[in-house]
Amino acid sequence: MENKLIGMKKRLTRYGDDEFALFLRKSFIKGFGYTDEVLNKPVIGIINTYSDFNSCHGNLNDLVEAAKAGVLAAGALPLAFPTISLHESFSFPTSMYLRNLMAMDTEEMMKALPMDACILVGGCDKTVPAQIMGALSSNIPFVQLVSGPMSVGSFKGERVGACTDCRRIWADYRAGVLSDEDVAEASNQLVPTVGTCGVMGTASTMALMVETLGLMVPGGACAPAVSAQRVRVAEETGALAVKIAQLNYNPRDWLTERSFENALRVLLAVGGSTNGIIHLTAIAGRMGINLSLDRLDELGRDTPVIVDLKPSGEGYMEDLNKAGGLVRVLTEIEDLLHLDALTSSGETLGVIIEKTRVSWPQATVRTRKNPIFESGGLAVLSGNLVPDGAVIKQSAASTKLLVHQGKAVVFDGLSDLANRIDDEDLDVSPKDILVLKNIGPKGAPGMPEAGLIPIPKKLARMGVKDMVRISDGRMSGTASGTIVLHVAPEAAIGGPLNYVKNGDEIYLNVNTRTLKLLVSDEELQARKETMPIIITSPKRGYGKLFHEHVTQAPQGVDFDFLIGVDDEDKL
Ligand code: FES
Repeated sequence: MENKLIGMKKRLTRYGDDEFALFLRKSFIKGFGYTDEVLNKPVIGIINTYSDFNSCHGNLNDLVEAAKAGVLAAGALPLAFPTISLHESFSFPTSMYLRNLMAMDTEEMMKALPMDACILVGGCDKTVPAQIMGALSSNIPFVQLVSGPMSVGSFKGERVGACTDCRRIWADYRAGVLSDEDVAEASNQLVPTVGTCGVMGTASTMALMVETLGLMVPGGACAPAVSAQRVRVAEETGALAVKIAQLNYNPRDWLTERSFENALRVLLAVGGSTNGIIHLTAIAGRMGINLSLDRLDELGRDTPVIVDLKPSGEGYMEDLNKAGGLVRVLTEIEDLLHLDALTSSGETLGVIIEKTRVSWPQATVRTRKNPIFESGGLAVLSGNLVPDGAVIKQSAASTKLLVHQGKAVVFDGLSDLANRIDDEDLDVSPKDILVLKNIGPKGAPGMPEAGLIPIPKKLARMGVKDMVRISDGRMSGTASGTIVLHVAPEAAIGGPLNYVKNGDEIYLNVNTRTLKLLVSDEELQARKETMPIIITSPKRGYGKLFHEHVTQAPQGVDFDFLIGVDDEDKL
């Protein structure tokens, strides 16, 4: 690799006189008290996404200081800077709507500031994919550091943690099993510390996939947010950033399709979030690599779910960490991986597994012979209702509903759902299929996590826990149920979903990967001429940009103009 370290001299502000630009830059930064000796060192940028609105990133100021210590000890100058921070519960209308904005912020700030490498510090669901998408497009060497999973709380003597238990407790409250006081007490326990959701939600899934891609120090995914182990990971990340800066070792030069296939294997083996597919597709897309849903399904058929974490199993991320973390999973599926895939350290994944392998007794990572779920946690569906595919997390679904035919009960959008789902007069039975339209990328907009359509109150009170539910939206990785998601094309651009009517029969067979609307082609065609597409197009600002350029789920919901590599951007 060519060594191109130039630190402060990089990307000088264009005044038409580079020497003056450097003189001015150094004069300003000397306001912090730096000497010329320090300013002549390589520069490591550190993106700090701490926000008072984001408890998932509540430890980031401490981690940034630890990363700085690692950078300084390795002989470079660490300089932290902010970008947008996204938290799932503090992002209206939904964090996915803002993911691409954060990716653009990350890319443009990395390109605007002088740095030889960058440490991306994030954690909550959309932040890690946004950072990596932006960093890959910036074409600057980088390494990821995550905040780490939160600790586990205790409610009525049971271990609880965000957010599988949040949904379970809320469902019990809706069904009248828990009181107002119970729910208030639960909310004190579900997020007992800072850090990301403690189950196999999107944040955990992304952290494990990013470590598999080699974009993190080994062990970086699972160390708890509140632990000395996490602080050490941060310091090690600082040292690694200096190494990749010295070598100009840029992930864009060594990540390959094989690296992404390894990440998909891990997504499947851990029973990861359906959101992980969208994000990994978008990340690969920034390199011009196309991850197809067909390939995901193919890999899923011989990759069992082996990690016993909620929502597919019972445990929490701290259990996976105690079991040895990601390497324990990689060891179990070693023969399914491309072991020659490179990592940020310059070593292959195979070498990393060899060096970090663990073998103490544990029960969280099962053997392949004794899995949580026989074949992949995720399945890709096809049929006339989903011409471009849809996804179901079969490992978190009810076995008895994996093959099911029922009558559609249709909601036109989120307002219609809110108005009618708990109506005592709603014509619905436990065997029906709930269909929600217009929550796709353009429809909502931003593809909110509303795919987990609530069980109608009158059925919940009867003890109904699950029904088949279908939408063009997403659901949280922490959720469970027989939920068909990411229907493409979405209703708002005229996908067949838009033309489903109350009472239509729908047939789901996850074993044969089929989702069919049992309506004739002629009838569907006739409906296209009479049923309107409900969509509003914003007139200005980010909303207009989003509406005009967002792609569908199989393309990663990225903006069309950000996909692929632009060789002009070498700065
Ligand atoms: Fe941030 Fe779950 S809300 S990781």
